[in-house]
Amino acid sequence: MNQDGTDRSRRRFLTGAVTVVGGAGVVATAVPFLSYWQPSARAQAAGAPVEVDISKLEPGQRISLEWRGKPIWVFRRSEDMLAKLPELNDRLRDPESSVESQQPPYAQNETRSIRPEVGVLNPICTHLGCIPLYRPEVGSVDADWPGGLFCPCHGSKFDMAGRVFQGVPAPTNLEVPPYWYPEENRIVVGEHQDGGAA
Ligand code: FES
Repeated sequence: MNQDGTDRSRRRFLTGAVTVVGGAGVVATAVPFLSYWQPSARAQAAGAPVEVDISKLEPGQRISLEWRGKPIWVFRRSEDMLAKLPELNDRLRDPESSVESQQPPYAQNETRSIRPEVGVLNPICTHLGCIPLYRPEVGSVDADWPGGLFCPCHGSKFDMAGRVFQGVPAPTNLEVPPYWYPEENRIVVGEHQDGGAA
C-alpha cells in the first residue's frame, strides 16, 4: 500500500486480468459513455472483483455491471435524494440496517454506503429474486413515491439506499456487496479494502 492508499500490486493485477469493454454491456440511464473493467469469463467464474469508473456518473444515473453472476448497480444520489432518506425512516422495515448479512460493516450507516452520494447495491429483490425497476424520480411509481427501486413482481419497494418499505413482501433491505475505492473515481466491487473476499 503506498502513500495515497492505492495498492499498486492489486491495481496491476486487476488491470492486467481484465479487458476494457467501453460502453459495451453497460446499462446506464441516459449516459452516452460509461466504462468498467470486466474480468475474463474464467476470472469472473472464479468470482474476480470488477472495477468500475464512476467519473461520468451524474446524479440519478446508474451503471449496471455483473459480479459472480449477480447484477450490481452503482448509482449517484443527488443532494435532494440524500436529504429525503432520513425522512423515510418511519415508513421502513429496517431503517438502521440492523440485519448484518445485508451489508458490510462500512455500509451499515444512513446511506448504506462508503460515500453518501454513491450507492452500490445488488438489486435482486429479497422476496423471491426478481430484479426491481430503477425509479429514482419522485412520483414515478405512485403519487407518494419518494424515488427508489420498485419490484414489479409483487410490489416490494425500496428507497434510494435499498432499504425496504413496510407492508411489502420483501423481508429485508437489498444487499450491499463488498466494495472499496482504489482511487477517487474508481470502485472495485467484490472485495473489501483490505483485500478480503466477500
Ligand atoms: S420478488 Fe420482488 S416483490 Fe416478490
